[in-house]
Amino acid sequence: MLLNLICVFLLCFFIDGVWSQFEGDDFEPYPNNKASHRPTQEIFEEYEIDYWRKNALNAINERLHRKINKNVAKNVILFLGDGMSFPTISAARVFMGGEEKKLAFEKFPHTAISKTYCVDHQTPDSACSATAYLCGVKAKLGTIGVGPAVVKQNCTLMNKKENHVDSIARWFQIKGKKTGLVTTTRVTHASPAAIYAHTAARQWESDTNVLNYKEDPKMCEDIAHQLVHGDTGGNLNVVFGGGRRMFLPKEFTDEEGEAGYRSDRVNLVEEWKNLRKDRGDVCEYVWNSTGLANLADDTEYVLGLFDTNHLPYNLERNKTKTPSLVEMTESAIRLLQKKNKGFFLFVEGGKIDLAHHESWARKALDETLEFSKAIQKAVDITNEKDTLILVTADHAHTMSMSGHAERGSDVFGYAGLGIDAIPYPILNYANGAGYKPYAEDGKRYLPSREELKKLDYRVPSNVPLRFETHGADDVPIYARGPMSHLFSGVMEENVIPHLLGVAACVSNDINCDEVDKLA
Ligand SMILES: *[C@@H]1O[C@H](CO)[C@@H](O)[C@H](O)[C@H]1NC(C)=O
Ligand SMILES: *[C@@H]1O[C@H](CO)[C@@H](O)[C@H](O)[C@H]1NC(C)=O
Ligand SMILES: *[C@@H]1O[C@H](CO)[C@@H](O)[C@H](O)[C@H]1NC(C)=O
Ligand SMILES: [Zn+2]
Repeated sequence: MLLNLICVFLLCFFIDGVWSQFEGDDFEPYPNNKASHRPTQEIFEEYEIDYWRKNALNAINERLHRKINKNVAKNVILFLGDGMSFPTISAARVFMGGEEKKLAFEKFPHTAISKTYCVDHQTPDSACSATAYLCGVKAKLGTIGVGPAVVKQNCTLMNKKENHVDSIARWFQIKGKKTGLVTTTRVTHASPAAIYAHTAARQWESDTNVLNYKEDPKMCEDIAHQLVHGDTGGNLNVVFGGGRRMFLPKEFTDEEGEAGYRSDRVNLVEEWKNLRKDRGDVCEYVWNSTGLANLADDTEYVLGLFDTNHLPYNLERNKTKTPSLVEMTESAIRLLQKKNKGFFLFVEGGKIDLAHHESWARKALDETLEFSKAIQKAVDITNEKDTLILVTADHAHTMSMSGHAERGSDVFGYAGLGIDAIPYPILNYANGAGYKPYAEDGKRYLPSREELKKLDYRVPSNVPLRFETHGADDVPIYARGPMSHLFSGVMEENVIPHLLGVAACVSNDINCDEVDKLA
């Protein structure tokens, strides 16, 4: 013990010595990289024993007085943080202002752990995982809205009706309830596609993508076409996101001067409008934030395609052009709440994942905070008595948050020194484009202070890859509202929609009377 202490002291002196080498303009923040928001140690209430006792007492009281909500969930909102791993959440808290801060969903009473593997892969992609948490069935990597018998890119198997699995949005529609989806990615991207599409390849977003795989689009219906003409897609009240080019012909130039991507000369936006008008529905197509803000009050169906591709990162968004995730979420909920017989809404924070793939951790954390704000908005404008809100991720990523940085440290700062006497960052990826080979003198790369602050700074990785991969680790589930206590323990990801279906009485698995008897 004594020896240990002496060692610790010696190590401190050693580290102090080494740190001093890095003092000077470039290296100044590393030994002392505290974020400015934190009060000094002397006035820090956390240094009082009493603070922690009171903190625990509040936690006990909250739990002892918690009432189980056994109402039927009239409305269900499923928030999906794409790639929102545990370290993403922990780092986002610090990025927001401190380790003790809470994201909106961290105030929810019930949590569970979700196992995300797919039938053929240890680590899932967003396609097979969306099939699990939306359609209730685990499937093969890259496939959407089809069962595990469907082989990747096999049109014949994809077209067999017995291989199709419907999403929870369809279950709501069958009961005459409203449905919608909101995403910051293309509305035809893997996660939102599982709401309405059945496909053997997530890449088949337009007919041109199908042709690129040397398949016949008349045989393998593309995802955008399914959104407009499919049983589920054709009945969605709200569709907000990006991906306009998947709906427009190559010969066509959209409102922002961007060309379409379809080869079949079909304008799916026009077809969407015409189908709605034929049915006598009050509908609107919008393509910018003004259009979204000015939606007519009696609108029953709305298609909002706010970019030719994915929506921009929030940190790079032009606010007069592109709506935020909060704005899209609020607008979607307000529309679904009109003459409400119950609704299902899917909201995806899709760019957390895309930022991680680029090793742009700063953007990933900012997107996580935006996602949290959208959830807070949903909490504010719905009632806990009748609305079940579930928050989860589809899979993890390889970002880690490690070392022993001081409380309040800037999460983009350094945690300590390697045995090479060079500082190492708090955030690292296991793989990705942030990899830097060792310099000729054998030294590890050390970025400057300016570099660390840049939006496009790629956090270091261990293995060089063009795109950082997903992680195989479990992800959290947070739930609030009717029957949210069903979400507990360690679950398979595909159980999620079944529990939501039971909570809302839209499930085919268990009828509502049975649930009442069980409750
Ligand atoms: C699709 O799967 C079927 C049934 O297993 C098989 O006969 C067929 O050759 C496959 N098609 C392709 C293009 O791989
Ligand atoms: C937004 O869309 C509306 C409707 O098409 C259009 O009139 C308006 O000019 C657009 N605003 C911007 C800033 O592009
Ligand atoms: C944002 O978009 C508007 C409308 O298209 C445009 O007039 C404005 O110049 C853009 N602002 C920036 C900073 O790019
Ligand atoms: Zn991904």
